[in-house]
Amino acid sequence: MKKLDVLILAAGSGKRFNSNTPKTYLKLNGFPLIYYSINSFSMLEDVVNSIYIVISKDMEKKFIDIKNRHLSDFKKLKGYIIGGDTRQQSVYNGLFFLKKLKDEERGGYVAIHDGARPFIKPALINNIFNEAAIYGGASCGVKPVDTVKIVNDGIVKTHLKRDNLINIQTPQIFLFNKIFDGYEYIINNGIEITDDTEAFSYVNGETKIVQGDNDLIKITYKEDLKKAREILKRFF
Ligand code: CTP
Ligand code: MG
Repeated sequence: MKKLDVLILAAGSGKRFNSNTPKTYLKLNGFPLIYYSINSFSMLEDVVNSIYIVISKDMEKKFIDIKNRHLSDFKKLKGYIIGGDTRQQSVYNGLFFLKKLKDEERGGYVAIHDGARPFIKPALINNIFNEAAIYGGASCGVKPVDTVKIVNDGIVKTHLKRDNLINIQTPQIFLFNKIFDGYEYIINNGIEITDDTEAFSYVNGETKIVQGDNDLIKITYKEDLKKAREILKRFF
């Protein structure tokens, strides 16, 4: 049976959040933010092969401390990988690490997840994985509430049909070898992307979208913590 290797991204510096401790390590109800997504993936014992956290070199000491304090019970958590200056470089470093493992040590599929999105429900991970097993790639997303326009120099140029738009979320799950090739392509060609479905598209990968979750917020600004505390009350 094919399984998932999980990369949880926590190597960002959280510029927009603007705190001394990077947002992914902030405590929420006594646990660091990344604890929650590691916990959700860990619940899928039969599906998950391994979990790795992608961290920044500067935070290595802090991460090891957090791992010893809060994450030592997670048997699927196999270690950490040093990320890069951009999200795409962090993902690539994670994929490159997995690529160097023996084929039989990998699960065949990789889940890429923002550590800044703590509230991922295990049932949703399963839904995404089921579709990725059919299409090769799958992600979740929610319909935007606002109408979105393409503008140039402050002038509206293109009117988009809201029904065709989706706010993309993570986790995104892909056939490992194919997303690796997609990332090799964009890195070697100096292409900048902001999500993994785009890297997948460069190797003709099509990503199926499944219904996401409004609780799956990304902690971006300080105000988001208030929302996170409210969601947490319902989540556990
Ligand atoms: N990320 C990463 N490596 C980077 C940049 C981002 O692993 N060099 C991760 C973040 O830790 C986060 C996820 O990618 O879990 C989504 O990125 P974002 O919300 O933009 O986080 P930051 O880049 O840290 O925040 P900001 O853009 O405000 O600086
Ligand atoms: Mg960022």
